[in-house]
Amino acid sequence: MLQRANIVQGDFSAVSEFVTADTFVYFDPPYRPISKTANFNSYSRYDFNDSEQIRLADFYRQLDAKGAKLMLSNSDPQNENPDDDFFEKLYQGFNIKRVSANRSINSNGSKRGAIAELLIVNY
Ligand SMILES: C[S@@+](CC[C@H](N)C(=O)[O-])C[C@H]1O[C@@H](n2cnc3c(N)ncnc32)[C@H](O)[C@@H]1O
Repeated sequence: MLQRANIVQGDFSAVSEFVTADTFVYFDPPYRPISKTANFNSYSRYDFNDSEQIRLADFYRQLDAKGAKLMLSNSDPQNENPDDDFFEKLYQGFNIKRVSANRSINSNGSKRGAIAELLIVNY
């Protein structure tokens, strides 16, 4: 399949020119840390912090306006803090589903297992 694929590397905003109303886009960004110790989101020297999450949500809205079908996954802050509505505010108006995901890696054995994650779709 990859022989027919065009792989482009760059900031997420670079995909805009390829997206039309016929496109399905799956976003798998660095997850927002749900606790002070679970903070791995540094895939490069640039941290994917809350302002990057906001920039990504703005981009999601731009692609939504083109009519593309969109799906984005992220961590669910409400696993740790039921009052944390960061993603509810950011993706207001979209369909925010909570799904159960298995996590087998955690320094704390009791925290391995099923955890809620977010799937945010515009359809
Ligand atoms: C959760 S990982 C995705 C893993 C990938 N979907 C896979 O299955 O291997 C998040 C990815 O986002 C990339 N990333 C970080 N900042 C980015 C940006 N501004 N634009 C595009 N990608 C970025 C990271 O390099 C990392 O590969």
